[in-house]
Amino acid sequence: MRPLATLTLVAVLAGGCTGREEHATPHPEEPGLLHPRYTLTMDDLMRMTADLPPGIREGIQADPVTFLSKLDEVLTLWEKDPALFLLVDKSHGLPPDYEPEDLVPLEGRGLALARPGLMLREKVVPDLIRMAEAAREEGVELVVGSCYRSYERQAAIYRWEVETYGKEAADRESARPGHSQHQLGLAVDFSPIEDRFADLPAGRWLAVHAWEYGFSLSYPEGYEHLTGYRYEPWHFRYLTPQGTALEKEFFGGIQQYMLEFLNTHREELYASRKPLAQTGEL
Ligand code: DAL
Ligand code: ZN
Repeated sequence: MRPLATLTLVAVLAGGCTGREEHATPHPEEPGLLHPRYTLTMDDLMRMTADLPPGIREGIQADPVTFLSKLDEVLTLWEKDPALFLLVDKSHGLPPDYEPEDLVPLEGRGLALARPGLMLREKVVPDLIRMAEAAREEGVELVVGSCYRSYERQAAIYRWEVETYGKEAADRESARPGHSQHQLGLAVDFSPIEDRFADLPAGRWLAVHAWEYGFSLSYPEGYEHLTGYRYEPWHFRYLTPQGTALEKEFFGGIQQYMLEFLNTHREELYASRKPLAQTGEL
């Protein structure tokens, strides 16, 4: 098993500090800067958001102070956990021996499970339980169907998909080994893993409420050109409530846009982050 910190994705800890940004007004002595915690100018932000769709780009540029405040919460979490917002998609993979260090079994926690042996990263579990309890209070049962999958397990699933449906169909709904969010231990498929899930009470409830608990729909309807996968109403990635709040308010609720932005600009964002001591808050 290789800890993620030894991979090339080591977070740049230029800011070095944690703690939530309380102020959301530009620094009075540095009028060119957008936020007291960052050395970013509007020109920087325009360059960094240039590849996003116009509606998303304009929303960020219209309220850069709120954007950078919410982003700061995400960067604070990410510097402690490099896998948390790591982009894993058709173009960005994980090594075969990557396995999270904090996988825990889901049995015995009051969750409805479709089968034994399901595991997730420990930090996902409290919000998953909160979400399942909230759904249950509204008469909706969330059944967990698939969670962490090793590289080898994903390879077997992909092989089966190719043999059963052919390569073209398989590539629309199954990640190749090393390219599944399930290998991160942060993704959950709810049961039944079928197209009709979107119209079942659980699918409808999750589409509205999952973000409140930090869960993000990874492969939304109408975005196959972006994600590479057809609509999967059952597949959610845990991004933390801070992550899904940023995603919802500034990235149109589209996970791929946010993770591409974060992963493309990760080093520059951390390098532009000032230690709290320099912001006058310590
Ligand atoms: N079904 C998703 C894309 C996966 O295999 O990870
Ligand atoms: Zn899935």
